[in-house]
Amino acid sequence: MKIAVLAGDGIGPEVTREAVRVLEALRLPGLVLLEGDVGGVATKRHGTPLPVETLDLARAADAILFGAVGDPDCDHLDRHLRPEQAILGLRKELGLFANLRPAKLFAGLEDASALRPEVASAIDLLIVRELNGDVYFGEKGIRTLVNGERQGWDLMAYSESEVRRIAHVAFKAARGRRGKLCSVDKANVLETSQVWRDTVIEVARDYPEIELSHMYVDNAAMQLVRNPGQFDVVVTGNLFGDILSDQASMCVGSIGLLASASLGDGTSGLYEPIHGSAPDIAGKGLANPMATILSAAMLLRHSLGLEAEAARIEAAVAKALADGVRGGDLGGTMGTAAIGDAVLERL
Ligand code: NAD
Ligand code: IPM
Ligand code: MN
Repeated sequence: MKIAVLAGDGIGPEVTREAVRVLEALRLPGLVLLEGDVGGVATKRHGTPLPVETLDLARAADAILFGAVGDPDCDHLDRHLRPEQAILGLRKELGLFANLRPAKLFAGLEDASALRPEVASAIDLLIVRELNGDVYFGEKGIRTLVNGERQGWDLMAYSESEVRRIAHVAFKAARGRRGKLCSVDKANVLETSQVWRDTVIEVARDYPEIELSHMYVDNAAMQLVRNPGQFDVVVTGNLFGDILSDQASMCVGSIGLLASASLGDGTSGLYEPIHGSAPDIAGKGLANPMATILSAAMLLRHSLGLEAEAARIEAAVAKALADGVRGGDLGGTMGTAAIGDAVLERL
């Protein structure tokens, strides 16, 4: 069982270190962890954010544990040299089109949520975000208009086959949960969304037992804070899913808690916290590593079939939170390593 560990930039290495300690503590026979450079670190060392060696390592691995990429020092570089291209490149090159982002309120965090405790306690949802298409991967450019000003443009597009495959993932996920699926789009304005909605409705015929609803993304953003308990599985495009999942994180207390799995057809999955490199707290040992630790649990479950071990990690995190283990993101004072220690003790 080969796991590629791509820690990246900023707090990436700090949070990944704790997740690796947790994986090693399980003493899984045959587990091999192989590190690779990715992001701004790779641009500085190799002149590209996603070196061929790293891509090869990722391809050869059974799964990838990813930290975060992003470095303010690189924000002025040409787009292809920016750290973010590494994660976008991995998602595209490995065909990781389905991004699962679960958000559930852990017991004891009722007061940490940005929402009232009685509203927050009902949260148990899964955002299924399409990850290989949309405005992220459409043609883009900056052109000069006749009046001399620059105009930036990005093509938003979804084909039926792209929507169909993510819809199947979402319907199947709903089947294993509470049987409800809400598709989020902007079909009142965007043709991209019209094709999205028509296709989701077509796929729904294969899943008569699933209760399907549709919601415009602006309303969904509002409903997510008004009554998040109404959502079971949410399926949406790349951009809307990016935004709604950061919002969902604060509904359950912190972005430092949200894990994710990026899956394709039979290739190695990639597992990462939904947060970024957090330059404002990087290098200070302040980041909450729980999102990355929970991503490692998803890795064991989805890529290695180790359900019991995954559940063990999740239970250890839940116990730590119930016992009052809190980083600064949750109003506490514990640092990254101390939170890692607390999870390890409970493992
Ligand atoms: P961010 O998620 O890095 O940080 C947003 C805020 O949340 C910051 O105040 C940060 O301190 C806090 N935060 C994030 N993770 C935390 C944690 N584990 N514990 C405690 N606090 C945490 O988003 P940003 O500031 O918009 O982006 C910073 C950089 O990260 C950018 O370069 C961006 O492109 C990149 N980014 C990368 C990924 C990724 O690698 N998948 C995801 C998001 C953003
Ligand atoms: C995420 C990030 C990325 C995205 C960026 C860094 C490309 O925000 O993983 O959520 O927008 O998908
Ligand atoms: Mn994001």
